[in-house]
Amino acid sequence: MEIIKNTQLLEQKIKDYKKANKTIGFTPTMGALHDGHISLVEPSLAENDLTIVSIFVNPTQFNEKSDLEKYPRNLDADADLLSKAGVDILYAPSVEGIYPDGSDYEVDIDLGNMVKVLEGEHRPGHFDGVLQVVKRLLDIVKPDHLYMGQKDFQQFSLIQAMIQKLQLPVNLRVCPIKRAANGLALSSRNQRLSKEATLLGSIIYMTLDHIKNNFHQKTVSEWKKWAIDQLDNDWSEPEYFEFSDGYSLEDVELQENHQYIVASTAVWIEKVRLIDNMIIKKVD
Ligand code: PAJ
Repeated sequence: MEIIKNTQLLEQKIKDYKKANKTIGFTPTMGALHDGHISLVEPSLAENDLTIVSIFVNPTQFNEKSDLEKYPRNLDADADLLSKAGVDILYAPSVEGIYPDGSDYEVDIDLGNMVKVLEGEHRPGHFDGVLQVVKRLLDIVKPDHLYMGQKDFQQFSLIQAMIQKLQLPVNLRVCPIKRAANGLALSSRNQRLSKEATLLGSIIYMTLDHIKNNFHQKTVSEWKKWAIDQLDNDWSEPEYFEFSDGYSLEDVELQENHQYIVASTAVWIEKVRLIDNMIIKKVD
């Protein structure tokens, strides 16, 4: 595996690959890699001539400075994992390589309410930063396929909307949520949890899964109350629990009115903010 930190160097390589008609699969990450990230790399390896993973802790998407500072970084261990998985190129740029001084890479598109709800409501400015960095990375890497996780449901929905609005020449592939044996969704942030909290964190999965299996037994507002109650303990505090339309992310009031429903939540455990979601209903 090649590790490239210099953006111009990568751009030159990409030009050569394009000339040789090689297809490129791309997985953007912020590092502190786990099996969830690797589960995005696997289909990329199978579907493309070349697989590129980026590791870049994007400062513009952190609405809390302390969260940016606390974000785990360990490039050597990450590089090891990716190399073992069979990745061709690890792109690990500097902040200057992504946002050269004096340049403006803001993405100016109106995604309406989709950007304002859920995480957008609770983390102001977060998605402006995500769209900005993903657009910038797509411009550099020029992939045929982009691999993202369902773990960040609103994130991939907004990226898909951006791809459509700007007619970007890339196909988005969404991969299922990878979970620990007890159901806790894998996340780089889990590294900051104690062993006990890692076990207790399964309450989030249990809550989502129970709703999925019994959805018809209560109304959406009854389920919301029930879920908040489940997630509110001495050791855990829910920030939100919402049911949204899986296509538009609009609030769901009556389950009968929607073909595709996703439940999303953010829960605090030991000062760590964990997000999770589950598709509760999908009629194809
Ligand atoms: P990061 O949190 O590192 O996640 C990188 C990708 O891995 C995202 O597409 C995310 O949805 C996916 N992922 C994380 N945990 C997962 C899990 N348990 N199962 C499956 N996929 C999982 O998301 C970001 O970075 C950043 O916002 C980024 C898109 C890189 C822009 O900076």
